[in-house]
Amino acid sequence: MANLIDGKAVSAAVKAQVKAECEALKSEGVTVGLAVVIVGDNPASRVYVNNKKKACAEVGFESYEYALPEETTQQELLELVNRLNGDSKVNGILVQLPLPRHIDENAVINAISPVKDVDAFHPRNVGHIMIGDYSFLPCTPAGVMELIASTGVEVEGKNCVVIGRSNIVGKPMAMLLLHKNGTVTITHSRTKNLKEICAVADILVAAVGKAGFVTEDMIKPGAVVIDVGMNRNAEGKLCGDVDFEGCKEKAGYITPVPGGVGPMTIAMLMRNTLTAAKLQRK
Ligand code: GUN
Repeated sequence: MANLIDGKAVSAAVKAQVKAECEALKSEGVTVGLAVVIVGDNPASRVYVNNKKKACAEVGFESYEYALPEETTQQELLELVNRLNGDSKVNGILVQLPLPRHIDENAVINAISPVKDVDAFHPRNVGHIMIGDYSFLPCTPAGVMELIASTGVEVEGKNCVVIGRSNIVGKPMAMLLLHKNGTVTITHSRTKNLKEICAVADILVAAVGKAGFVTEDMIKPGAVVIDVGMNRNAEGKLCGDVDFEGCKEKAGYITPVPGGVGPMTIAMLMRNTLTAAKLQRK
């Protein structure tokens, strides 16, 4: 059996550190605030937003929820973002994605002040990540890096394969691994010989969005296998992109779903919000 990577324990340690720093700021009269905006009633988004608010309470942040109806216009949403940009109680702004189809996500992301962009989705922050000079970490990839670090396995010089090329996970994930001197391959739905590429990965990060996509024959014995997937199987049970039961004997380290990457994303969001508050003080 592979070593199980405990995302709950690693995320608890990150949040404990954020909480201690938040308390220190409070003693100097500074409170940290995160605005969380959700449009419509996507049930998965609702769960994520609730978890983010819960994490804020845990670490001592104020959270301000804006739950807008599905029919909200792009203009109304942009006006809200603009208001939050100018609100000094709000250090971080998170607009939960996906947005309803009639709203242009890029227009909304572009409207968020880069100094409050705790998701690191704004093109300016994406550019900073690309260069390797950044304050805000892309939350999910940064959480994955913490999980890899917790195994003690060095990234430098290793074959790192990322499955998925989304702006939220795949692309920034590849950058963070590259910054740690990994030899990085990004694969996607058009990749030929995916199995062969994955099978030489010392570190495999699956962010495909397909339940059980990564099977035992695709992994290298002893590999670090990180599962970013959050899917529902036929019975409605939460499951990842990796066939956990099939891979758990062959991998060296593996994340469970739930309890792996999910809690880390939120912990890194808390860290970014704290960073935002500190930057805005200056
Ligand atoms: N939807 C799925 N993941 C994320 C995330 O990390 N941030 C936001 N804002 N929306 C998401």
